[in-house]
Amino acid sequence: MCGIVGYIGKRESLPVLLEGLKRLEYRGYDSAGVAVINKENEIISFKKAGKVKELENEFDKDQLTGNIGIGHTRWATHGEPNDRNAHPHFDEGSNIFLVHNGIIENYLSIKKKLLQEGFTFSTDTDTEILTNLVEFHFRHTNDFEVAVRLALTEVEGTYGIACICKAEADKIIVARMGSPLMFGVGIDETIVSSDAAAIVNYTKNVIYLEDGEFAVIRKGGFQLKTIRDENIIREAQTIEYDLAEIEKGGYEHFMLKEICEQPESIQNTFRGRINFDTGFVKLGGIEPVREKLLSAKRFIITACGTAWHAGLVGEYMFERYCRVPTEVEYASEFRYRQPIIDKDDVVFIISQSGETADSLAALKEAKRLGATTVGVVNVVGSSIAREVDAGTYIHAGPEIGVASTKAFTSQLMSLALLTLMIAQSKGTIRDSELKEILSELKVLPDKMNQIIEKQKEFEFVAEEFKDSRNFLYLGRGFNFPVALEGALKLKEISYIHAEGYPAAEMKHGPIALIDENMPVVFIAPKDSTYDKIISNIEEIKARKGKIITIANEGDEDIRRYSDYVLHVPRTAPIFAPILNSIPLQFLSYFMAVARGCNVDQPRNLAKSVTVE
Ligand code: AGP
Repeated sequence: MCGIVGYIGKRESLPVLLEGLKRLEYRGYDSAGVAVINKENEIISFKKAGKVKELENEFDKDQLTGNIGIGHTRWATHGEPNDRNAHPHFDEGSNIFLVHNGIIENYLSIKKKLLQEGFTFSTDTDTEILTNLVEFHFRHTNDFEVAVRLALTEVEGTYGIACICKAEADKIIVARMGSPLMFGVGIDETIVSSDAAAIVNYTKNVIYLEDGEFAVIRKGGFQLKTIRDENIIREAQTIEYDLAEIEKGGYEHFMLKEICEQPESIQNTFRGRINFDTGFVKLGGIEPVREKLLSAKRFIITACGTAWHAGLVGEYMFERYCRVPTEVEYASEFRYRQPIIDKDDVVFIISQSGETADSLAALKEAKRLGATTVGVVNVVGSSIAREVDAGTYIHAGPEIGVASTKAFTSQLMSLALLTLMIAQSKGTIRDSELKEILSELKVLPDKMNQIIEKQKEFEFVAEEFKDSRNFLYLGRGFNFPVALEGALKLKEISYIHAEGYPAAEMKHGPIALIDENMPVVFIAPKDSTYDKIISNIEEIKARKGKIITIANEGDEDIRRYSDYVLHVPRTAPIFAPILNSIPLQFLSYFMAVARGCNVDQPRNLAKSVTVE
């Protein structure tokens, strides 16, 4: 899950490449590199371990002038993050320069063949093998396009690549198999990128590459083809967001900005999709499979990470209000488990990026087995959005912080809208319940704002616990997955070990972890599980655990059992996970900041996991 950029056109390519790499850095930040074709048709390249700003210190910009170039920001898969393994990779003769996002699975057998052909290698990467394979074919065909095509027919695995050639210094060739790749068609310029963030500043007209396609891009235009050399005509699509949406807007971190944007992003998720008088829900993107949804024998939700947690909440929603048996699957397990699926099953794929490799593969497996597939996706035009039978965009807007926040609450809202649409059509929800839910939905953004205004309280508690080594998060019912999500947020940005559990599970083992050094967060809204959760709190208190409770406004009683109480407004059970998540997002954010962690780009992580 690296970031690839390329530029060919009227401007100096280097500034465009560097700006693009900085915008794509949330995809991977182990190393960065660029290669530019200068006026003498020489290719000049620099690469460096670390962030793009470290790369910029490596050279004097005047050394890299030219209108054609490629760049890369890396998330290491093969070969440790260092200068040698950084991209671009090139062959011994410095003819082919190539950047790659993905994994070449048969790189060792290709390397063996190339070694016999006298090729030499100086890195530990699969990408260097691909680069030399292109050079191998170039030596035999003297044709850059043919060489790339032949090389790509030989490799197995996933790739998004951009490459340039000294011998044919007037073009960039890009290709895709499994990893996202697109290019923006501007006036006298074309910008290649792994996602729209590096393009939106120059043009909103983009061409998405599909699997098995490549494009030859020259100053005057481009040719889109399949790897089997068939020409493709494709309309450009329009990027829906502005540059401002991918800027920090005065916030210290993207994560803080995105947490504070949630009252607005949640409105964008339900705006125009629900009639507050009748409760009628209209999800245009779902219409093609509406009958399949209403007659389904089983729902299966599959996803990864935070999206998987949203899926767990969806299971509670679908079973409680739609009365459809629902299962939630880790996409990485589902795709290999030979699941029993049939045509009466509907498989929901939840993904913020729409590019997560395991979720995309789970989707393809569900389709192969005959299920109807429905996407719940944020990134418009992403691979999962283009592959599903039908879907609903969550409209959370661009999410740059690696730790997902506003996408999670908008995923929950989209699942709630799907639930209401299905339950209404099936008549499985009582009018009184629907009325309560609609009236709560109207005021939900305000209630989210009320929580966001309490930042100082969350910061205070975070300061108290910033040096903790472990944390436990406990919840019941709809809020058990919220406990899992709270623990994940803390792990991924503050590097504190944390686990989430159904509160009643503690007695079956984890309670052995409890002592005066173990902070335990309880999600304890005043719902049907309240009395049970109070007993669970007492079990932990009896063993001197430090207790932080997320409780409803007005619940002062709970102070007797808690060391710290963070109040959130009360709402309908179906929306409680949305409100209860926000204090947990802030707790993890403020603890990470207090520990000096890089909140937006946590170590070892990347925003979109496009490799297995
Ligand atoms: C969440 O904060 C993480 N970034 C990660 O768990 C993420 O949810 C997971 O990789 C799934 O990503 P997706 O929603 O883009 O498919």
